[in-house]
Amino acid sequence: MSALVIENLSVVFGRFRALDGLSLAIDAGEVRAVIGPNGAGKTTLLDAITGIAKPTSGRILLGDDLDLTRRSESEIARVGVRRKFQKPSVFPALTVSENLEIGCGLDCPTTERSDRVATSLAETALEARADTLAGSLAHGEKQWLEIGMVLASRPRLILLDEPVAGLSDAETVRTADLIQSLRRPDRAILVIEHDMAFVEAIADRVTVLHEGRTLFEGGMAGARADTRVIEVFLGR
Ligand SMILES: Nc1ncnc2c1ncn2[C@@H]1O[C@H](COP(=O)(O)OP(=O)(O)O)[C@@H](O)[C@H]1O
Ligand SMILES: [Mg+2]
Repeated sequence: MSALVIENLSVVFGRFRALDGLSLAIDAGEVRAVIGPNGAGKTTLLDAITGIAKPTSGRILLGDDLDLTRRSESEIARVGVRRKFQKPSVFPALTVSENLEIGCGLDCPTTERSDRVATSLAETALEARADTLAGSLAHGEKQWLEIGMVLASRPRLILLDEPVAGLSDAETVRTADLIQSLRRPDRAILVIEHDMAFVEAIADRVTVLHEGRTLFEGGMAGARADTRVIEVFLGR
């Protein structure tokens, strides 16, 4: 079963094709990394999936058949697609638990809220920080809190934009362990990242984007050995 199917997707800014007939399928339960040089279209891909960028052609399906193409951002969030932006955007004047409550979302039944907060605290190992103000967390803890906020909404598809940018080596290892622990048969994770050791640690497969198209798809070892990938990206 597929978690996400993208068919022949194009996103155009003026005369520039940021995504150019991109096709991509992610299996249910998969962790997929999308890598590639600056300007390849990685963030535009997340913008298209989440309804921020409007495709000029192609389709985006959640699961095998729920068509997300041209739906609004809020409709797409409501069917279980949630994104963590690169810069942590937690609410600094609220506690960790209060931030997680917000992550549950507006549709979350009040009766479920405390359960979900507790689960997210456990999943991100932030229990000891539950009552700490988010503004006083370390950078890495803010990143984990924001992943926890995404988890609190019980998403089917999690999109993470550069989750280890600016983290220390130890924080990066912990983030890799966290992502590994989030694997579920009914949850897929798409990660954009530049840190290749991190990508190798978490991803089942990698998609190398270049000029809005797939240059390579497969295992990280295959990507490292691919002459085109080396030429446009890894060799630089
Ligand atoms: N809103 C926009 N208007 C015009 N051009 C854009 C816009 N967003 C992105 N682009 C261009 O699209 C290309 C892909 O950008 P982006 O998806 O951010 O790449 P990446 O995340 O892989 O570095 C870049 O050349 C960028 O300048
Ligand atoms: Mg980007």
